[in-house]
Amino acid sequence: MTLPDGQARPARRHGMGDPGATGRFGEYGGRYVPESLVPACAEVEAAFRDAWADPEFRGRLKTLLTVYAGRPTPLTPAWRLSEELGITLLLKREDLTHTGSHKINNVIGQALLARRMGKRRLLAETGAGQHGVATATAAALLGLEATVFMGAQDIERQSLNVLRMEVLGARVVPVTSGSRTLKDACNEAMRHWVSSVADSYYCIGSVMGPHPYPWMVREFQRVIGEEARGQCAAELPGGVPDYVVACIGGGSNAAGTFAGFVDTTARLVGVEAEGGAAATFGRAGVLHGFRSMVLQDDDGQVTEAHSIAAGLDYPGIGPEHAHLRDTARARYVVVDDEEVVEALHRLARTEGILAALESAHALAWVLRAARSGEIKPGSTVMMTLSGRGDKDLPTLKEAR
Ligand SMILES: Cc1ncc(COP(=O)(O)O)c(C=O)c1O
Repeated sequence: MTLPDGQARPARRHGMGDPGATGRFGEYGGRYVPESLVPACAEVEAAFRDAWADPEFRGRLKTLLTVYAGRPTPLTPAWRLSEELGITLLLKREDLTHTGSHKINNVIGQALLARRMGKRRLLAETGAGQHGVATATAAALLGLEATVFMGAQDIERQSLNVLRMEVLGARVVPVTSGSRTLKDACNEAMRHWVSSVADSYYCIGSVMGPHPYPWMVREFQRVIGEEARGQCAAELPGGVPDYVVACIGGGSNAAGTFAGFVDTTARLVGVEAEGGAAATFGRAGVLHGFRSMVLQDDDGQVTEAHSIAAGLDYPGIGPEHAHLRDTARARYVVVDDEEVVEALHRLARTEGILAALESAHALAWVLRAARSGEIKPGSTVMMTLSGRGDKDLPTLKEAR
């Protein structure tokens, strides 16, 4: 059975549940790591399974997300933009969390887990710096050390976030190899983890990496989708929006959002940056410990991603997204930098909300699809606004 736009009807085939011991989502996922890291990944998996089944851990996480991170985040109608587009657009406001993006949801979960495992230090990679800031924040909160690996190019374009991390007490390590962006920061963080696994916990920032990370990070971000589902039920006459839209770097805000709606009739749309569109232009391959869709050349070499949004500058996509794409439960679309800057300004001018460049990707597709009639007038759209745009002001100034 198909929906009018040709999408497969959702999705008993894909419940976004536990991928089991192999960590597979269809043909994707798994654990492709050096032998020395296999026990470390197994230790994280065992610890997460134990913690996730423990009401005390869940309760502590919920309390911190509430009294510290500011959850639940509101679902804000974009009143003026909705009127202009002839649709109902609702924004899930992850930009209003402490530290200004959804990354905090995952990091508080993993930092609590690290402490439960007796680790004293968090290692992290970061692109836009939002995951790094969230890691530095959670480390300070829970009395852990934090070391954050960041590409030298990203250090230049996200200098404010570098300063924030340092003020929060984290050590920021510049990575000068390759394209000097997120991919290279991930390589370096993994290399470092191999040599320090006894006392360090690798806190991955998206639904990527070896099993259990893609599953665990999605579970820590599920709170976005679950809250939004309840808020939509209260807000919308039909209860469920026609479209659920989120931007995709590795895919964590989208995975958390989709998890709340995968068993509904909502069409799920992930929006990629044109220069980092692994679900659209990639081929199956292995990157950073997992199998997924990866941008690569004819020889199978991973190619560089390029996006105006540092957090989307990643040549792969989380393995569960590759599976959601293959099973046609979600659709992945591409927008370019110019549309993104226009969308960011549009939202700022109509709603008084300065979105992150990453989040503006999701909006750029909504604007295009509503203007072209692909999203029909009268439709309802729930979009995750993953973060706030203060960090992007220098980039915006340059783009003028
Ligand atoms: C505000 C914001 N949104 C989205 C992303 C992309 O990450 P993900 O696809 O894991 O949600 C980032 C990454 O840094 C970000 O900072």
